[in-house]
Amino acid sequence: MASSIYSLVYYSRNYIASDETTFAANVDQILAKSRLNNQRDEITGALLFNAGCFAQVLEGPLDTVEAAFERIQQDERHGDVSLLALNPIEHRSFPNWAMGFIGTSKIHAERFADIGSSSGFDPSRLTGDEINSLLRELAIEEEAA
Ligand SMILES: Cc1cc2nc3c(=O)[nH]c(=O)nc-3n(C[C@H](O)[C@H](O)[C@H](O)COP(=O)(O)O)c2cc1C
Repeated sequence: MASSIYSLVYYSRNYIASDETTFAANVDQILAKSRLNNQRDEITGALLFNAGCFAQVLEGPLDTVEAAFERIQQDERHGDVSLLALNPIEHRSFPNWAMGFIGTSKIHAERFADIGSSSGFDPSRLTGDEINSLLRELAIEEEAA
């Protein structure tokens, strides 16, 4: 059966100044704007920040996902945006998240240590499927917390 929902996964390099206050303020802005736009666009997903990189899953109708990705690629707060996957899906992995954010709190750092040996903590060395599963696991933990 043809699916009309797509999942897009990419990673990028963080260009936001590394001091905590500036970074937190920028992420707050990105999330506030994303949640507004994504609700309008029927997009759900999650954004991961780790080791100077972002990784993001966007899921929704192909046209709005592609339009969001176009805007995201032009954003100067990050760069080297690399598309890892764009596939039709039967079910959303993040049905309740207009855009969830997973930063580097301790529990997550430990989780990253588990996959660290294979990825070197670097999203650029993970596949789209691995990023999707990782974000999904972390999102479930976050919802349960
Ligand atoms: C790491 C990162 C993730 C982003 N994620 C989204 C997103 O999920 N949805 C979205 O609309 N904009 C997202 N943005 C913001 C877009 O780049 C852009 O600023 C915004 O979509 C512009 O919206 P506007 O045209 O309504 O002003 C993201 C930006 C960055 C740097």
